[in-house]
Amino acid sequence: MSAPPLMPGDGKWSHALPLVRDPLTLCEQARPHGPVVALRVGWARMYMVNAPEAVRRVLVENVGSYLKTTRGYDKLRLSLGNGLVTSEGDFWLRQRRIAQPAFRKKALAGFAGIMGRHVERAAGLFAARAAEGPVDVVSPLNRMALEIVAEALFGADVADVSPRVEQGVNDLVEPFWLYTTAPYPWPEWVPRPLNWRFWRGRRVVRRETRRLVAEARRSPEREGDLLTMLMGATDPETGEAMSDAQLIDESLTLLGAGHETTANAMAFALDLLARHPEIADRVAAEAEAVCGDGPPDAAQIGRLVYTRQVLDETLRLYPPVWMIARRAEADDTLAGYAIDQGAFILLPIWSIHRDPDLWPDPERFDPDRFAPDAPTPDRGAYLPFSRGRRQCIGDRFAIMEAVSALAVFCRRFALTPVGALPRLKPALTLRPADGISVGMRPR
Ligand code: HEM
Repeated sequence: MSAPPLMPGDGKWSHALPLVRDPLTLCEQARPHGPVVALRVGWARMYMVNAPEAVRRVLVENVGSYLKTTRGYDKLRLSLGNGLVTSEGDFWLRQRRIAQPAFRKKALAGFAGIMGRHVERAAGLFAARAAEGPVDVVSPLNRMALEIVAEALFGADVADVSPRVEQGVNDLVEPFWLYTTAPYPWPEWVPRPLNWRFWRGRRVVRRETRRLVAEARRSPEREGDLLTMLMGATDPETGEAMSDAQLIDESLTLLGAGHETTANAMAFALDLLARHPEIADRVAAEAEAVCGDGPPDAAQIGRLVYTRQVLDETLRLYPPVWMIARRAEADDTLAGYAIDQGAFILLPIWSIHRDPDLWPDPERFDPDRFAPDAPTPDRGAYLPFSRGRRQCIGDRFAIMEAVSALAVFCRRFALTPVGALPRLKPALTLRPADGISVGMRPR
């Protein structure tokens, strides 16, 4: 069996710099060269996996052979610790089982009210700012999403610290891609601006999470939220409860994974809606018919079918997690090519979601691709929340929150676009490089 073909290029290193500087373009350029393509990045064996069936093999069928033993995940471990996103094996499984009940349908239904309240507050803020001109929605949405996840999962009010946490998260997220792909990475202890920024961000987010856990420890009367569940869980073998350090890692992981992703999705959706007023009008009409003037409750969110289609299509065009990386821990075969142990595997969600063979007219924003009677996309062709056992635990949480927010915002405001399409910054997540501003006229 042969190794995957090399993507054309001059010399052994020709894709190293494009991978650092413009990975989205590189992903799209690699796609026509086959289902699995080898990049020229020096001595590392790095394969871009483009075909849905090969993606499914990595994430689902042979998931035990592809682990998070990559440089990116090492970096993430240094910031988030060993929580649900970064851990592996039995430890991960145990933690996932503890956390899962907080994300079941019944528990989620209880969060709709919290989401609605924060969405209303954001709408009020937008209304006040809109009187002065276009509104940059990214930062308010980030704070809203952070406050929602903190209140829903931890019963905590973080409004007074959310600007600080937002800055801390920016410090960690923005340099992430450079950190993980630079051919010669600088160790974290080398004094240089990028590292100062990393440590500053880490210090801030860990300090605020430590405070949250300490407060929870001081309130024994709490019940029902995820932090309480985590505090009450014991190791089946040793009978020991989680240490403070472990609680901090898990809490920080959920807070981190649970807000910036959703906020970016909502911001991109507002930009798309502003550019497609006929679609925004349909969302507004649906919102009015289903929930009138207020925010939707859990049952109503389920009936906002078209708004959900808009979100699904936004996540196709702008997947907040735009790339998933793994390392092959055993030899395997992907799409007929030999993958040897130790190879790095890149799953470019970004370019799979824009593959013209999978998505006709892929650049077009068309929520009807996700209409109830449209064909269901292949599981390896649409994966904003990944697939398989490491699939996002917060997928339904994120969908509820974003659907609720888009319905309320479209119902309240006629949106108008500002400037050209947003410039993208593929960092740890896919972010708008210069914010996203939209005009918001009260309807
Ligand atoms: C639109 C919003 C979101 C997107 C696009 C998203 C996407 C993803 C993706 C692609 C993964 C898999 C990463 C990998 O395997 O390398 C993931 C994992 C995860 N996400 Fe999300 N996510 C979102 C929202 C949330 C929310 C709201 C929460 C929690 C409240 C959350 C918590 C997590 C956790 C804990 C994991 C690790 C799960 C595990 O491995 O067991 N995410 N997410």
